[in-house]
Amino acid sequence: MALAGRGRNYPRFRASINAFENLIFRHAWPAKVAFRLGLQNKIKTVRYTVALASYPAQNPSLKIGFLSDFHAGHATHPKMIQRSIEQIQNENPDIVLLGGDFVDFDAAFMRDVIPPLEKLQPPLGLFAVPGNHDLWSDDVLIQRSLQEIGVKFLINDGLFLPPPFDGIYLCGLDEWLAGEPDPARAFAQNGKVNLVLMHNPANYLDIKIRPFDVAFCGHTHAGQVALPFQYPLILPRQPCCRKYSYGRYQVGEDGRSSIIVSSGIGYHFLPLRFFAWPEVVLCTIGKQ
Ligand SMILES: [Fe+2]
Repeated sequence: MALAGRGRNYPRFRASINAFENLIFRHAWPAKVAFRLGLQNKIKTVRYTVALASYPAQNPSLKIGFLSDFHAGHATHPKMIQRSIEQIQNENPDIVLLGGDFVDFDAAFMRDVIPPLEKLQPPLGLFAVPGNHDLWSDDVLIQRSLQEIGVKFLINDGLFLPPPFDGIYLCGLDEWLAGEPDPARAFAQNGKVNLVLMHNPANYLDIKIRPFDVAFCGHTHAGQVALPFQYPLILPRQPCCRKYSYGRYQVGEDGRSSIIVSSGIGYHFLPLRFFAWPEVVLCTIGKQ
C-alpha cells in the first residue's frame, strides 16, 4: 500500500512490505494462529507512582491509564486489543492516554479498535496522539473514527485538566519521525504539573528544554523480540530509542522529570514477542 496519510519519511521499502503482507497474511491468519497457540495471551499491568513536590496539595492523586501501539492489523489479534482496554477499565483511571500506532498500516483495521474503545469512558476522557504508522496510513480516517467516539487529539496542543485536578497541564506532540512536532505550540501554556503525551522517545529532543514532569511514549515495543533482562535486539533507529527503550527514566536537571516508555500492546509484522511482553500502564501522580 502506498503512503495514504500526511506522514513524512515514509520508508521506500514499506510499500512493498505492506503489499507482500496483504498477499500472504490474508484474513490476518498470523494473528489467529498465534492467538490459538496461546502466543498472544497475557497482558501485564505495569504500575508507576510519581511523587512531585510541585503537585498541588489540595488535589487528589491523578490516576492515568496509558495504552499504546495497538498495531491493529494482520499480526495483532483483536482480542488482545479488547483485553488491554478492559484491563485498564478495571483499574478505574481518571483519564486514559492513547500513545498512537493504532493500526499497523491499514486504517480499515480500526474496526478492531473502535468497538472496545467506545466502552472506555474515564471521567476526564481519552486523549491521543498519532503514531508514525497512523501517519503513513489514512490518518484522517483514523483520527475521525476516534473523535467520533469522544477521543480528543492533542497534536501540538494542550489543555488544563478540570477540577479537582487544577493546575495540571496536559499536552501532546506530533510524532517525531513522520509528523511535525511543534513544542512551542504544545507548551504555549504550562501549569504547576506538566504532562506530555508523545509517540516516540525521540520526541524527548523536542521537550528537553521544556518544563515537563512526566512524558508518556511507546513506539519501541521494548524491541518486541528481546533477550532476557529486557535487552532488545531490534529497535527503531531514531535518536533516544535505544537509550529510552523501555520503562521509567529520570531525565533533566537533577533527574526531576520522568519519561515512561511502554512496550505497548500489539505486534508489528511478526505476531510474536519475546521478553518484551504486551502491557498496559497505570501511573499515579501525587504530592511528594
Ligand atoms: Fe511507532
